[in-house]
Formats: sequence, C-alpha cells, structure tokens
Amino acid sequence: MTSPVIAIDGPAGTGKSTTAREVASRLGWRYIDSGAFYRVAALLALRHGLDLAAAADRGRLRDALEEADIRQEVVGGVSHVRLDGDDVSVEVRTPAVTAIVSRVADDPDLRAIVNSGLRRQVGDRPAVIDGRDIGTVVFPDAFLKVFLVASLEERARRRMEEAEPLRAEDPSVLASYAQSLAERDRQDREREVGPLRPAGDAVHLDTSDLDISAQVARVVRMARERRAG
Ligand code: CDP
Repeated sequence: MTSPVIAIDGPAGTGKSTTAREVASRLGWRYIDSGAFYRVAALLALRHGLDLAAAADRGRLRDALEEADIRQEVVGGVSHVRLDGDDVSVEVRTPAVTAIVSRVADDPDLRAIVNSGLRRQVGDRPAVIDGRDIGTVVFPDAFLKVFLVASLEERARRRMEEAEPLRAEDPSVLASYAQSLAERDRQDREREVGPLRPAGDAVHLDTSDLDISAQVARVVRMARERRAG
C-alpha cells in the first residue's frame, strides 16, 4: 500500500514550496507545507521567550505546539498559515524565526508532534507535501518522492529576490544569504532524527537551471506516469 502523497524534499531555496503548491493545484490535490509547522513552533518559542537550551522550556514549547490550532490554506495561489485563527504567514518567515527554526526542529519529540499532525491531516485524502523528511520519515510509503537540489549560489539568489526584489545584486549581500542558507542546511543535515537527506527511492531533480513551470511540469509528468504504470 502506498500513501496518496507526493513528497517533495530538499534544502531551502530549491523551489520546493512553489513546486509543491503548483503540482497540487494542477492535480487537484491538497498542498501541505510541513516547514510551516516548524516555523509556527519557532514563532511560539519567540513569543513565549523560551530558552531552547533549557529542557523545561523545550517541554513548554511542545505543550504550546500541541495546544495550538494550526491551519493552512491556499488562497489565490498564495499559501497561508493561521495560528489560533490569526494569519501568521508573514511573521513565520521573518529572519528572527528563520534564524532559530532549525534548532527548534532538532527536538525528536517536537518532530513526533508535527509528524502525527501531518499524518492526521492527510488521512486518506491525496496531498502534495514539502519538507525535509517527508519521503524518509513521515510518509516512507509515499506514492512519489522527489528530492530537489540546486547550487548554493542560485538558491541564495532566489532567496534574495524573494526577500528584497528591488535590491540590485550585491555580492556581499548575496554572500550573506548564501551563508545563512548553508548554515541552516548544515543543521538540517546533521540532526539525528529526521535529517535532510534523500530517500533511497526518491527521484533527484536539479533545479539550478529550471524555472518553476518546468519543475512543475516534470513532477506532474512523473505523477501521471506512476499512476498509469
Ligand atoms: O521554505 P524553506 O525551505 O526556507 O524552509 P521551510 O520548508 O519553511 O522549513 C523551515 C525549517 O523547518 C527547515 O530549515 C527545517 O529546519 C525545518 N523543517 C524540518 O525540520 N522538517 C520538515 N519536514 C520541514 C521543515
């Protein structure tokens, strides 16, 4: 039995979330952004002033996450995340959240909370989910697994364009984006539970020279071929 899930994993800036959202829309499946749950957890840690080095505060964070009502929806092609009814889509992508999210995500017990929430949300309804460990840990029996990669330079350029679209390309600014991406990748790769790594049966796709529509077309084609096969 396979889960009705397309898992799209890979490092930051490879176009996972845009690809996953578009593929979901083309197939009429739901889109779920697993990173949003870790980002909401990081936001809760900041709001409650928790110390990630203290075991008691890690426990408080898990309790806060279990009590939180987290919902995702795509409206007009844009994905939104709500925390207890408030739209926190912008807040969860601030540099302050991004800076601590990988540390928040290194707690195996917190990961278990996120993973069971994801499995509950999917149930038996088809979904496209993007993340780091969707094909390896959360849905190892996913119908299709794709692992996106791209050069660090290209990923930094994309992130800079997203965050500061009007800024002219400046090598020192680009270098600082590259450095923070590389640091987050390192933390994501090195954690013991749910690290960033491709599943043995994932299809690798290098997106350095692909635009989003080409990425989407490839994944949709793979999904259709699997369904037909
Ligand atoms: O959008 P971006 O690639 O920058 O990151 P994201 O998908 O929003 O994920 C933010 C962070 O959450 C990642 O850097 C990981 O530390 C963590 N994460 C994770 O540990 N496992 C997942 N399945 C998804 C995200």
